Formats: sequence, structure tokens, C-alpha cells
Amino acid sequence: MNARPLTVVAYQRERHEPAYLQFIAKVLGPEECEHRRKVLASMHERMPGRDRFPLRHVILDGERVAGSLGYMPADFWIGGARVPVRFTHDLLVDPDYRGQGLAKLVVDNARALGDFFPGGMWMTDPCYKIHLACGFDDVAALTTHTLALDVGSFVAHKKLPRAKALVARAGLTFTRYRTLARANRTRARAGSTVKAVDRFDPALDETWAKLGATYAVTLARDAAYLNWRYTSHPHLKYRFAIASTNGGPAGFIVWRPSGAGEKRAVVADFLVAKGDVATFERLLAHVIVHASMAGCHSLSVLTTQSWAARTLRSFGFYPRAVRNTWVIAGWQDRIPKEWLAEHDPWHVVLGDSDGDIWSHAT
Ligand SMILES: CC(C)(COP(=O)(O)OP(=O)(O)OC[C@H]1O[C@@H](n2cnc3c(N)ncnc32)[C@H](O)[C@@H]1OP(=O)(O)O)[C@@H](O)C(=O)NCCC(=O)NCCS
Repeated sequence: MNARPLTVVAYQRERHEPAYLQFIAKVLGPEECEHRRKVLASMHERMPGRDRFPLRHVILDGERVAGSLGYMPADFWIGGARVPVRFTHDLLVDPDYRGQGLAKLVVDNARALGDFFPGGMWMTDPCYKIHLACGFDDVAALTTHTLALDVGSFVAHKKLPRAKALVARAGLTFTRYRTLARANRTRARAGSTVKAVDRFDPALDETWAKLGATYAVTLARDAAYLNWRYTSHPHLKYRFAIASTNGGPAGFIVWRPSGAGEKRAVVADFLVAKGDVATFERLLAHVIVHASMAGCHSLSVLTTQSWAARTLRSFGFYPRAVRNTWVIAGWQDRIPKEWLAEHDPWHVVLGDSDGDIWSHAT
């Protein structure tokens, strides 16, 4: 047990990076450390909002890093106003120091900053409990919808008993056939109104702001954020499509096929006006067809919007039973309490928080 007091310190890259990387290499191994080093560099050198100090707190034992919690700055549209927020992410304590209250110390310290924390999400169970113990509040759990594209591999992955596997295989084969037929029809009708793009053009920022403001609360997406987050990710190759209606931009979708060692393709982000089912369908059909052509075993989408969930189900996606926890803090004076129990005001997607950001599917 440590006799020295451990201190929570705002992370200064020049000063703390060597000890922090040593900590990561010790806890997660040298290979993972090398991947993380690149993602961290992208945060410190290119992430919009990187000037919002600190981007991380570390718990120091002398010169040694014993634990850490990161923050991702972002902006949210809340009732049409652009508000700076942070996501907590990347909570990690050195196994030598676990069970001494360090995680609680650093999460407590974050909450005390008083900012609006609209996440974390994608938490492990202990991490979720720690956030609640430190005064974060629970929001209605999130549901991911999944479509099986390679039925054989999908069913094998589920490890079902033989009889159940046969039934699942027959049902999913039929669903896949119907889904692909519908997606191809929708795509043919959409023609050139859905276009793949290489990166986001700042000229469209105003459109994305208008679409974002159709939701009571959602991440503010602009080219600076989207290009940092998805176009320039050090490891992951995302793909983008923009849909237009009557010649004007009406929405976008960000997705990535499963990489080597992965099974599942994911839709990391999408934005259309609230309730614009027709544009969402065109974008979704584009992704389904391309994910199928890329040989992905399944495709997952997360939405908090009931109209979007209905569209997903009508395309053969099914809601995953697993509970994705979601906690927020500092919401008082920013959003009404009722929004903690409702999904409808929120437009939340898989790419929010640090969902996907540490992956390196190669
Ligand atoms: C999760 C983690 C950060 C906890 O760190 P820690 O310093 O040991 O946590 P604390 O000592 O502050 O414990 C806080 C509470 O969480 C509980 N807890 C900690 N680890 C737990 C575990 N693995 N399972 C269940 N509960 C756990 C503790 O019992 C304690 O609850 P209590 O106050 O009611 O007793 C640490 O185990 C870790 O780094 N894990 C690997 C990375 C990880 O999973 N990070 C979360 C990513 S989302």
C-alpha cells in the first residue's frame, strides 16, 4: 500500500507524456500503446477544441502515473444554442493501484469541473458504477440495431444450439434477401442524389447546423469535427455519403466496413432532419448495399430516435438485447430533468463519446 499521497494533476503533454505512455505500455502492452500514441497525437495536435485545457487528468505517485481519465471536448446543439461540452473517456488505473479509490477520485474530480458531460457511453460495468457513485446520472439505456449480412458467419458467431441455429439461419436468410432487395431498389431510385464523398466540405457547415438544430440536444457536427474524427483517423478508414433533396444537401452518413479481425461494420454517425425518414432510408440503403458488397458479416447502427429505429426494423435490423449504459453530469441549468428519462430529445449515435476511437482494425 502506498504511503505517499496520490495527486490528481491536469495533464500537460510536454511534461507528462513520457510517464503516461509508460503507464499505458505497462497496463495495455507495447503494441496497444503504439496505437494509442497515434490517436493521442491526433487529439493533442488536430482535435477541434484541443485548447480546452485539460484534455486529461492523471493521478501521480511521484513521477509515476497510477491512473488517468481523458476528456473529449465537443460542442452540442441544445435548444438551438451551441454549447461547449466534454465527454469523459478512457478511465484507466494501474492494476498495482486498483481497489484504493483512485478511479473514484479522478471521476469525482471531473464532475466537480461543473461542465456539461453528455457522456460517457460504451462503459464497462465498473466504470458505469463509478460514474454513478461520483454523481453522474443515468439516462435511459441506448439500443444498438444490427442487421445480419453474412448469415452463416453471423449465426456461427452467436454459438446457438443446433435447432435454434437452423431456425435463425432460415429466418435471417429470408430477412437478408428482403433487405438487400429493398436497399437495391431504394438505391436505384435515389440515383445520383446519394453521393460518396472523401471528406466534408466546410461550405456545408450551415446545413449541418440547421439539421442539428431540429433535435433538442445533439452533437454539433461541422467539417472541422467530422474530418478530424473520421477522415483523418490514424487507423480506421471511414466512408461518407451525402444525400441531397431537390438539389440541396439533406443529410450525411459515416460508416466503416469491418476491418481485419472484426466482424461488424458500423454506422458511426448520421444526420438528417428529425423525422426525415426518406433521406435516412436513402443513406441507409447506400450503406447496406456497400457493406454487403464489402463482405461484412453484420451492420450496426445506434439511434435514440424512434422514427429511425422504426426504419431500421423495417429494413430487417433487430434491437440488440445488451444494455448500453449512458450517464451524464452537469446537466442542471442546461437541459430539463425530464430529458434524463426520454430518448426523443436526443440524437445520439455510435460515434459519440469515444465509441470506436481507440479501435485499430488492422
Ligand atoms: C475500472 C477501473 C478504472 C477501477 O479502478 P479502481 O481505482 O480500482 O476503482 P476504485 O478503487 O475507485 O473503485 C470504485 C468502485 O468501483 C468498484 N470496482 C472497481 N473495479 C471493479 C470491478 N472490476 N468490478 C466491479 N466493481 C469494481 C469498487 O468496488 C468501488 O466500489 P465501492 O466504492 O462500492 O467499493 C480499473 O479497474 C481499470 O482501470 N480497469 C480497466 C480499464 C477499464 O475497464 N476502464 C473503464 C473503461 S470504460
